[in-house]
Amino acid sequence: MYDYYLGGKDNFAVDREAAEKVLSSAPEIRQVAVENRAFLGRVVEFLAAEGIRQFIDIGTGLPTRGNVNEVAQAAASGARVICVDHDPVVCTHARALLEDTGNVAVVQAAMEQPAQILADPAVRGLIDFAEPVAVLFFSVLHFATDATPIVTAFRDMMTPGSYLALSHGVPSQVPGGSETAGEVRQVYGRSNSPGGAFRTEAEILELFSGFEIVEPGLVPLADWRNSEPAAAAARTWLLGGVGRLR
Ligand SMILES: C[S@@+](CC[C@H](N)C(=O)[O-])C[C@H]1O[C@@H](n2cnc3c(N)ncnc32)[C@H](O)[C@@H]1O
Repeated sequence: MYDYYLGGKDNFAVDREAAEKVLSSAPEIRQVAVENRAFLGRVVEFLAAEGIRQFIDIGTGLPTRGNVNEVAQAAASGARVICVDHDPVVCTHARALLEDTGNVAVVQAAMEQPAQILADPAVRGLIDFAEPVAVLFFSVLHFATDATPIVTAFRDMMTPGSYLALSHGVPSQVPGGSETAGEVRQVYGRSNSPGGAFRTEAEILELFSGFEIVEPGLVPLADWRNSEPAAAAARTWLLGGVGRLR
């Protein structure tokens, strides 16, 4: 569905049908998806400039242009990236597309099983938790009913100077209010990413417990260290931010 919003070709009829249902309730979602990718790019470039060379990208999605490993390795050659997704189709595509890319591994796992992710041989082989690492949750934590234990499990492995970055759905950002949010949730309820919860700004800020949020804080994605103009629609649905572990 996300690939379809982004104008990609890696989607099936069932994805397109569900995505069209979402777009009929919330046409701005397409622009939000594009803005989310742009935010991802700016965040990964920022993290590389901060000296981060290891990334764990949770809910990585189909590797389309500007995915985390592409941005990270362009900014810092030799950057190591773990791509995690629970969707077997995403993982199969990702493995095929990334097989010739060094220092990148794909792990099929649900984020609700952080211990399984952390124990995965690919993670243990590529990531050294004695060094700073960035754990990324772009547009995925709102699919988790309880996000705190997920973030905490990773935070507990991270050394000071590591980073948490996320974008997340927030009810107050939905232009059509709770009615539109309900319609969209209904479509996702029948997908393989059901359940989950949009969280308030305060609840998302709590996920950064132990982290110092870097400027400009938790903001609409288009406002995060962005010099490009953005349409009002691109400021809806999601907020994003980056925190540095104290
Ligand atoms: C909206 S896409 C975001 C893709 C990418 N992170 C980005 O921001 O461009 C959400 C991705 O998260 C994955 N996902 C959803 N629930 C998940 C879960 N419980 N564990 C792991 N991945 C999940 C989906 O399969 C999908 O690929």
